[in-house]
Amino acid sequence: MSLKKSVLEILLSSLGGFVSGESMSTHLGKSRMAIHNAISSLRDDGFEIEASTKNGYSLKSTQDAFTEDYLELSFKGTGIKTFFLNEIDSTNNEAKRLLTKGERAPLLLVAETQFGGRGRMGRSFFSPKGGLYFTLVLPGDSVKDSDLITTAASLGVLRAIEKTTGKKCSIKWVNDVYLDGKKIVGILTEGSYSMESGLFDSFIIGIGINLRVKESEFPDSLKDIAGSIYPNGEGSLSRMDLLKEAVKSVIAVIDEDFIEEYKRECFLIGKRIYRLKGGEYREALALDIDSKGHLIVEYEDGERDTLSSGEVKILLKKRSEGDVYA
Ligand code: BTN
Repeated sequence: MSLKKSVLEILLSSLGGFVSGESMSTHLGKSRMAIHNAISSLRDDGFEIEASTKNGYSLKSTQDAFTEDYLELSFKGTGIKTFFLNEIDSTNNEAKRLLTKGERAPLLLVAETQFGGRGRMGRSFFSPKGGLYFTLVLPGDSVKDSDLITTAASLGVLRAIEKTTGKKCSIKWVNDVYLDGKKIVGILTEGSYSMESGLFDSFIIGIGINLRVKESEFPDSLKDIAGSIYPNGEGSLSRMDLLKEAVKSVIAVIDEDFIEEYKRECFLIGKRIYRLKGGEYREALALDIDSKGHLIVEYEDGERDTLSSGEVKILLKKRSEGDVYA
């Protein structure tokens, strides 16, 4: 482990408290000057470290520090192998490449930005700096019900955002998380299928959270739909704290019987919606969500239908009516 990473590990383990330069120097077998240089370099990475001649060094805040070492240390002991990417086409694509090269789940890939971020149904996902973009790869056999994985992921992320920000969110079936009427999270779940076993050997859960993406930055096509947790770009929540909570929470929900809670958070139920399939709109009332996470709707002629996520798009307004659709 590099000296800088060892110093960071010590400071993180006594967050808020003081550690003397001398004790770090003795413990790590390095000079006081080397410790001092490591501290300077950590400050450059965004860690707020106080220095006092009497007490030594204290990590006051991690602010929005986001580095490979910090990622690795944050998930140390979880069994999850981490990958920090400054810039990548898509963390889901990179996850697939790593699996092909022989990496095995559980993996976590995190990117500062994506230049080819992918969304559901072949759409792209706008991924500038200021957002949190990651892919969690879980072993196929760790997931109780693969039909529900994407539903579980949305509830996990909702819980994590509510816990870390105190803001009340909701879910638009099937897995978009909303805040103040706008989509702030997109989730794209893919599977890596084993021809030999005929089963999914891994699930690739890609999550994009608009944390501090400024609303003014969204392209015109997204302005009415997409939102951000901190739409003015301010807000002190660190990406690492949100990431840790989101990963923990998604893994926890996957193991729970969560559908009743999911239904309570899902704002479509009881609403008039449009089902868009093959370019055709059909108006319906969203009635319920079944135990498999399917949406049960009733069309105007009284016919009922059970919709699964892959086959339809649900809109709150017809596109041709202009403005808001989701
Ligand atoms: C959607 O809203 O249609 C799903 C968007 C999923 C975006 C995330 S960002 C991290 C991961 N990498 C991708 O290319 N897509 C997912």
